Amino acid sequence: MEQAAYILVTGASSGIGKGTAIRLSADYSVILAGRDRARLEETLSACDKDRNHLIWEYDLADLPDLEGSLERFILENNCLISGFVHSAGYFKMVPVKMLSIALFQNTFNINVIAAALIVKTLTKKKLNQGALKNIVFISSNISNFGAKAFSAYSASKSAVDGLMRSLAVELAPAVRVNSVLPGGIRTAMTEHTYQDAELVARMYAVYPLGPGSAGDIAGTVRFLISEDARWITGQQLVVDGGRTINITG
Ligand SMILES: NC(=O)c1ccc[n+]([C@@H]2O[C@H](COP(=O)([O-])OP(=O)(O)OC[C@H]3O[C@@H](n4cnc5c(N)ncnc54)[C@H](OP(=O)(O)O)[C@@H]3O)[C@@H](O)[C@H]2O)c1
Repeated sequence: MEQAAYILVTGASSGIGKGTAIRLSADYSVILAGRDRARLEETLSACDKDRNHLIWEYDLADLPDLEGSLERFILENNCLISGFVHSAGYFKMVPVKMLSIALFQNTFNINVIAAALIVKTLTKKKLNQGALKNIVFISSNISNFGAKAFSAYSASKSAVDGLMRSLAVELAPAVRVNSVLPGGIRTAMTEHTYQDAELVARMYAVYPLGPGSAGDIAGTVRFLISEDARWITGQQLVVDGGRTINITG
């Protein structure tokens, strides 16, 4: 039986990953990855019904078994993976005096190392047969800037962008690798910062284009995976409504 090609989307159970998986499902078969099967099933029920989609339930914090689990999943489902979108992420605001080894490890494990191990697995010739064509990491606009209590998180996003650039060179011309750098988007991850109406109003005021949504990121990922982006690799694509170019005093 011929093997079907899928786009693997981590973080597909929520927020940006969920929106991206649903958007991509109109044109591609997708593999929805996350820890929570019930929420992954919810995403699946919103995906385009004309294609077959799969669920890979896995805790990316379990790094030692990550490559093995993904290999088994690919073999059991007799599938190939042509695209990889890493939207799973760990974010905790922690002031410098409260930083811990555990926080750094957890943040880097999910945001950086899991992404690298997935790419390693998907580039195995025998397993994925050279099917991989596209990688998009969901980074953050904090990757190139600074904010109070963001040090561990922003370091991990700068790291994933560094990973992206080296992979773009090493895997070319077969694979294109890019990052999308969103600004603040209201999701489960950031919900706690949207509780104070005054703060929200101040936050939106510095976005020249106003608030964005998961759909804005999904559309960008879809573009980067498409043939329209065939000469784009190794790039950070900032999608933040102009937040980081606004120097209005
Ligand atoms: N929202 C923003 O303002 C914003 C801005 C810039 C960048 N980003 C980035 O965008 C990405 C998506 O964030 P979001 O806002 O959509 O957050 P979200 O709604 O909280 O979604 C996070 C996703 O990550 C998955 N995840 C977390 N830990 C995991 C683990 N150990 N194993 C497997 N999956 C795990 C979660 O799945 P389960 O819970 O099902 O495991 C969930 O699907 C993240 O990389 C984030 O850093 C977000």
